[in-house]
Amino acid sequence: MVRPEIEITDDGSPTLRHPLTGDTYHSLRGAVGEALHVFVREGFSFVGPSDVRVLEIGFGSGLNALLTARAAARQGRKVRYTAIERYPVAAEVAARLDYASDPLFMPMHEAPWGAWTEIAPHFRLKKIEASLPGYRFDDTFDLIYFDAFAPDTQPEMWSREIFAHLCDRLSPGGVLVTYSAKGTVKENLRAAGFDVRRLPGALGKRHMIRAVKPSCSPANEQRP
Ligand SMILES: C[S@@+](CC[C@H](N)C(=O)[O-])C[C@H]1O[C@@H](n2cnc3c(N)ncnc32)[C@H](O)[C@@H]1O
Repeated sequence: MVRPEIEITDDGSPTLRHPLTGDTYHSLRGAVGEALHVFVREGFSFVGPSDVRVLEIGFGSGLNALLTARAAARQGRKVRYTAIERYPVAAEVAARLDYASDPLFMPMHEAPWGAWTEIAPHFRLKKIEASLPGYRFDDTFDLIYFDAFAPDTQPEMWSREIFAHLCDRLSPGGVLVTYSAKGTVKENLRAAGFDVRRLPGALGKRHMIRAVKPSCSPANEQRP
């Protein structure tokens, strides 16, 4: 359990600063603005199914999960949301974030680890307390929010091996979105089997990435 400091970002929304790495959980240009752009608009609203299986790398403050639950309610969709986190945030810190006034927010933090919990009729949550490198997911997902700390801080999280496992766990045509468009990230995603697209980043940042798992394996595409 960690007790990160709260910081207010430029759009007025709060984020956290990790006590061990010193990284912030979102862009200081705007926590809500960044999360809405990278994960909700370019990820959740982009993928097809009305019943979506989301995997988040780094549950953190729970902001991405909350914004996804709100978007799902607006769009009349259902979400099964799995999130992995190595350093769960203490509930008393989460309770001091602005988002705590949303009735869905604290139930997300108070939900047990390792089990499915119905947060709302349209939103089910399973949080996994584990470290991503070496962890193997059993389930299949339609959409992955890759929201680890920056590749310069945690290069081991952005490896080809991890992306290959995540690609394997995506449904055909499934999507991974992330805020980083660093060269090594693109290279490792491509080497892991993804089709990689660069999109405009959030709040003036030049680029972000949307990576798609091809619908057919190269072997299936070859005709006799
Ligand atoms: C950029 S923050 C994610 C912010 C989060 N998505 C949110 O909405 O607040 C990165 C997250 O990855 C977590 N993390 C760091 N190392 C990890 C690891 N080895 N395995 C899983 N999660 C890790 C951090 O604790 C932090 O919550």
